[in-house]
Amino acid sequence: MVKIGILGVGTVGESVAKILEANADIIEARAGKKIVAKSGVVRNMNKKRDVQIAISDDPYSVVDDPEIDIVVELMGGVEEPYALVKRALENGKAVVTANKALLAYHRYELQEIAGNIPLMYEASTAGGIPVIGALRTGLAANHIESIQGIMNGTCNYMLTKMINEGAQYDEILREAQELGYAEADPTFDVGGFDAAHKLLILASIAYGIDAKPEDILIEGIENITQTDVAFAKEFGYEIKLLGIAKKVGEGVELRVHATMIPSESMIAKVDGVMNAVTVVGDRVGETMYYGPGAGGDATASAVIADIVDIVRGNQGPMLGYKKGLESGLKLLPKEQIVTQYYIRIEVDDKSGVLAAITSTLGEFGISIESMLQKPTSDAHIAKLLFTTHKTQESKMHDAITALKMLDVVHGNVAMMRIEK
Ligand code: NAP
Ligand code: HSE
Repeated sequence: MVKIGILGVGTVGESVAKILEANADIIEARAGKKIVAKSGVVRNMNKKRDVQIAISDDPYSVVDDPEIDIVVELMGGVEEPYALVKRALENGKAVVTANKALLAYHRYELQEIAGNIPLMYEASTAGGIPVIGALRTGLAANHIESIQGIMNGTCNYMLTKMINEGAQYDEILREAQELGYAEADPTFDVGGFDAAHKLLILASIAYGIDAKPEDILIEGIENITQTDVAFAKEFGYEIKLLGIAKKVGEGVELRVHATMIPSESMIAKVDGVMNAVTVVGDRVGETMYYGPGAGGDATASAVIADIVDIVRGNQGPMLGYKKGLESGLKLLPKEQIVTQYYIRIEVDDKSGVLAAITSTLGEFGISIESMLQKPTSDAHIAKLLFTTHKTQESKMHDAITALKMLDVVHGNVAMMRIEK
């Protein structure tokens, strides 16, 4: 019998304990051994838990318990789970975690500490979708050209409801929290950080790149307005929060941001809590992985898949490399990212203004692809909405700074990237 200790019996931890019990027969048949959740850890002992396992508030009672074979870390945070996972590995216990924030900061140290002890993390990225397994194993023959996708269920759920049903931001965020999709601190979701944590994990497996969240471009969905949504619809785009990793020459772009993508693309049709990740390999071509990106049972499904793999003895190096990778690929500085942009700007509604705007953009070598003018509630002020041809991120930032300095421009100049 294999005994499991669960650090964190919350949304995911509770589902793990329940599924291990409810689906014990199929799990035992697949793993070849009986797998039982022995104990779990929470912060608040007064909260009622709907599980049949011993509960305590002392994480060391699990990681130091000689009877526990596999520690499952589902508590969230970075430094506290790092110390506990380290201790569990040092005690010779296999570890399964769904904690992408932990891995975004400590995956290389943990790989080192783990050595030959299994440390698995399928549930950390894209919830119930086995995209980690696909990258580590299924696509092992390929150089990875790009990874692009919807990697945060909360944001996709919110964007779908806001765009299709006109739902209010705060209300729909609360709903995502009640459904168990959001992080304990939901600014990780709406600020793009959670998707960035996942992207960094995928980039390590795909490219061997050891970057931290601070090193890459991260923007969230907080500043999207109804004007942007209406423009996107008019010009045949959907707005999605995307994680993008792309090989460009000897560099790799890593970025997370709200993105306008063509409405007819497959990813544009991925709605609600569903995630979808497209991976392009140099030999296999384009592959796509789709499924629920968040939620207790969907995530627990991936956690238990890792447990079964460990019990079967399917081990492998944590990040998928048995030897050092001499790819020469480096993280591309964010200023060098090249893409198309959408710009929203409020200006005096008078002659000569459009020329001033386009000539300012022209000074930075930015050429306009399309333009739309919309009235505002103030008869003297108009909204100008542009899309540009491809340009470099640094030029776009400089152009926006210059635009803001024009007398005819009012307030902020908003920008969103476009991927076709
Ligand atoms: P959650 O509902 O907030 O559960 C966290 C659990 O950990 C709670 O039981 C909490 O105790 C316990 N905990 C937190 N800090 C603790 C501490 N210092 N000592 C003891 N217990 C502690 O979170 P969740 O949604 O299940 O997420 C868990 C992890 O999975 C996170 O890393 C998250 O990013 C990741 N994840 C979540 C999802 C999802 O859809 N929810 C999907 C993929 C990955 P109390 O109950 O007493 O507060
Ligand atoms: N908060 C995360 C999301 C959970 O909404 O995608 C799954 O990782």
